[in-house]
Amino acid sequence: MQKIDDLMERLLESSRSFRKRSGRHVLRTEDVVYCAFSTPGFSVPRALAQRDAARRLTRFGLDRSQVAGRTVLDLGCNAGAMLFELTNRGVLSGRGIEFDLDKVELAREISRLSQLTQLQFEQGDIDRVDAADLGLFDVVLALAIESHVLDQNRLLALLAEVTGQVLCFEGNAGCDIREIGTTLLKLGFDGIEYLGTCDDDLRAANNRRPLLKAWRTRRRSGSRPFPGVSLPSMQSQSAAEVVTHAAMALRAEAAMETSGCAMPGASASPRFPGSKLPNIGGAWRWPVAGCNGIDE
Ligand SMILES: C[S@@+](CC[C@H](N)C(=O)[O-])C[C@H]1O[C@@H](n2cnc3c(N)ncnc32)[C@H](O)[C@@H]1O
Repeated sequence: MQKIDDLMERLLESSRSFRKRSGRHVLRTEDVVYCAFSTPGFSVPRALAQRDAARRLTRFGLDRSQVAGRTVLDLGCNAGAMLFELTNRGVLSGRGIEFDLDKVELAREISRLSQLTQLQFEQGDIDRVDAADLGLFDVVLALAIESHVLDQNRLLALLAEVTGQVLCFEGNAGCDIREIGTTLLKLGFDGIEYLGTCDDDLRAANNRRPLLKAWRTRRRSGSRPFPGVSLPSMQSQSAAEVVTHAAMALRAEAAMETSGCAMPGASASPRFPGSKLPNIGGAWRWPVAGCNGIDE
């Protein structure tokens, strides 16, 4: 019991700040752990956390059918909440990279306590890490880190290198998510789906972080096949159309569970009759740029 209390105390302390581009970001919300999760030996309840890992996975459609038996990389993983929650959905292995050593040590301790031997946490700097050293992962998480790295273009290129199938990207508030999606397409992703903004933050004002899911449909050697992902021919389409059409096709073919992330204005797609697709072309909405007072 003492060990659990001690872990919670240290998580609370560690959550007070994190590394950002210049110096440290101090959270405006006090006495909360950065993100709630659940493992067999240790959990952080939703009420004690700023964010909620289970809800975030649901928003990205990362249910068991999508992640069981797959490899996951989490860049800027904080104390490991997203990877912990993914073990409840059967991931084969998870690797977390985080700048702050105290967070890495906490993540390792929780892994040991809950015997999550499939997880590995390392101290590292995303701005320096080499794609070849990381390797290829079926699923990559890049959540709320884009405004904290020195070079966003380098980050996007890195993500393109290390993603075997699916990239889940959460921008920081005020980022140009349209530009990021377009760049990811240029870097070789085959489809981009905009999922709206996050909705799990304890502070309503923070729920402005845009969510993107980027897909590769051509299997890269070393990555495991994803369920039924393929695209219609789109040679003559503009980048914007590709984004929309790819997202619609992928939603149909991957048959993702989208109940937790319905988009406003969703309706049956005219291009894919019979599917339960949202009409993404008419439903894209974009975050307001330049929000202040946000806990990134
Ligand atoms: C806003 S938090 C997001 C944490 C986690 N990705 C999530 O969404 O739950 C940003 C995290 O990235 C880490 N970070 C910032 N810059 C980094 C860098 N250059 N290399 C590795 N980690 C970094 C911070 O320490 C912090 O834990």
